Amino acid sequence: MKNKISVSLLSADMMNLEREIRRVEKSGAEMLHFDVMDGVFVNNITYGLPVLEQVRKITNMPLDVHLMITDPLEYAERFVKSGADIVSFHIESNSDTAETLRVIKESGAKACIAIKPSTKAEAVYKYLEYLDMVLVMTVEPGFGGQSFIAETVGKIGEIRKKLDTMGLATDIEVDGGINDVTSELVKSVGANVLVSGSYLFGSDDMAKSVRKIGKEVLR
Ligand code: DX5
Ligand code: ZN
Repeated sequence: MKNKISVSLLSADMMNLEREIRRVEKSGAEMLHFDVMDGVFVNNITYGLPVLEQVRKITNMPLDVHLMITDPLEYAERFVKSGADIVSFHIESNSDTAETLRVIKESGAKACIAIKPSTKAEAVYKYLEYLDMVLVMTVEPGFGGQSFIAETVGKIGEIRKKLDTMGLATDIEVDGGINDVTSELVKSVGANVLVSGSYLFGSDDMAKSVRKIGKEVLR
């Protein structure tokens, strides 16, 4: 399975967002990761629909929108209309999971369920056949620059095994604390879409770092 890198804009220089997006485009990364936080589901507030619309206007990169909001069902369609190619929402949110998946797909985007570090792998099993991707948080959602939680590695492996037994090659995305060391751990158990913010934006040579964390490993 080819690995894909999704660069989190949370660590970009917001005063120079267009320049930062051009830097990501040139890095060879496959997607832009757009973290939406509402200050209720998580203890932080970022950016939302108007910013996504502007980003959509200036880039053709796939936009990987991660909703950390209390009621994703209420907003899913608007995020798709504003340019999301893939929408991830949390199973721990207040919205009905099946209904939210349906709305995202009907609006024309790919759909993904995200789980927090303390949520068990089994929580997503009954939805797997309807998903384009599963997002396993490897830090508590809310902030960039946190340390990877190693206890999440087992869960990534469990989900990959379950997908394999179901004959599904669904993407597993990991998000939080991904760098040149932790990327090896998550890829070895079957994650193939790696979100990275602070490591990539903090790198002198983003393209080189993208290649490094995207490199294939045996599993
Ligand atoms: C955290 C966000 C992440 C964050 C990752 O809640 O969902 O996408 O930007 O940042 P790093 O790579 O710095 O951990
Ligand atoms: Zn994210």
